[in-house]
Amino acid sequence: MIAIASDHGGYALKQELLAHLAQQGMAVEDLGCQGERTDYPQYAEKLCRAVAQGKYERGILVCGTGIGMSIAANKVHGIRAALCGDCYSARMAREHNDANVLCLGGRVLGTELAKQITDAYLAAGFSNGESHIRRIAMIKDLES
Ligand code: RB5
Repeated sequence: MIAIASDHGGYALKQELLAHLAQQGMAVEDLGCQGERTDYPQYAEKLCRAVAQGKYERGILVCGTGIGMSIAANKVHGIRAALCGDCYSARMAREHNDANVLCLGGRVLGTELAKQITDAYLAAGFSNGESHIRRIAMIKDLES
């Protein structure tokens, strides 16, 4: 199960992605917003705490640029959020960084590219490479 959330700047793209993922039969929970003007840290916190607690395998956060969501998301213990604007980065975010949250810019990306980035991210898995495990452990150390 994955979760998706946005602020008002990412709302339109969130709705497009929800429909896209539903079409693929993917189990996705929409944690809001509903299009109202809101503050992105609130939704980043809601989604990231749930991902960190293991309620969802991964999360997708969308705001206007994706920047605010990614900054806020990476403040939550256990979250590795990647702001991606291309499919290669989205795949690497999983294979090398084991990113558990994908951040997207709703006012930056075209809808079709955003769908492809999301698909690339969700299709990829962590490589389990020794060097990547070591580096992620180093990132975890930064949290304490
Ligand atoms: C909201 O206007 C906008 O600042 C927000 O969606 C996001 O782009 C912040 O990083």
